[in-house]
Amino acid sequence: MRKVIVIGGGTMGLDIAQVFARSGYEVVVRDINDAIIQASQSRLIKGLDKLVAKGKMDEAAKADLLGRMSFTTDLNQAADADLVVEAALEDLELKKSIFAELDAICKPETILASNTSSISITAIASATKRPEKFIGMHFFNPATVMKLVEVIRGAHTSDETCAVITELARAIGKEPVEVNEAPGFVVNKILIPLINEGIDLFYTGVASAEGVDTAMRLGANHPMGPLALGDLVGLDVCLAIMDTIYQETGDPKYRASLLLRKMVRAGKLGRKTGIGFYDYRK
Ligand code: NAI
Repeated sequence: MRKVIVIGGGTMGLDIAQVFARSGYEVVVRDINDAIIQASQSRLIKGLDKLVAKGKMDEAAKADLLGRMSFTTDLNQAADADLVVEAALEDLELKKSIFAELDAICKPETILASNTSSISITAIASATKRPEKFIGMHFFNPATVMKLVEVIRGAHTSDETCAVITELARAIGKEPVEVNEAPGFVVNKILIPLINEGIDLFYTGVASAEGVDTAMRLGANHPMGPLALGDLVGLDVCLAIMDTIYQETGDPKYRASLLLRKMVRAGKLGRKTGIGFYDYRK
């Protein structure tokens, strides 16, 4: 594998792209318009400048990394890619339409991977004619730091595709865990309801936002409280995952908090919009 195309230059896509570029792969990031691409590029430069300022990267390594990364709105750049990693919005119909297009553009041997947090790999793969080459490659936020990659098999994913992606995850410095398809897979099936429960404790006045977070940091030894983590993940992403798990299982314990839904409707999505349970605009 040499060339990777990452679909979506948002929170996850940009970090996933950096992970591949750091390991020597040529990476193209595709998003939908020039304004979003410019914003994504400036976040990349800002992040790399911070690393340089902290002495964690030198200018030569930065230039090297940037030399391997490019940005585009043109999906046809996927034509000679060896791997696609899709990190667009958490929406089944959107993902299916993206992969239907990619299936027609990409070489027959290209592996198609989705970074979906909760959606059925089999359902997304059904939009393509290569479900045996379709797989979940689920990174965690921030992908440049977090070690885990859940490698998720759909109903038709071949052993070979699974082996290639498991090996690749190791090659880019991650720890793969093979997971069978299930709503929310392993981590989010446990983690997102926990965030939701934290939100409800705040909503029902049991504790302040800081109180809920401090309690879970110091009482459960979590590095971050559930509300701060929700802000980091993106509250729209949290809601989409809760809704998927709820729809798939029908289990009321996965019903999204009314406050979570209200905040998403109000555009308070967490760090990415500058405000969520905390204010990041200062
Ligand atoms: P985001 O909202 O930060 O970024 C999504 C990006 O996709 C945006 O830049 C948007 O313009 C772009 N996009 C939309 N339609 C597109 C298309 N047709 N082609 C190319 N780009 C398109 O979302 P985020 O948080 O990066 O999530 C992306 C995916 O990763 C979702 O499926 C999410 O569930 C998953 N994920 C999110 C994690 C998180 O902590 N935020 C962790 C792991 C997975």
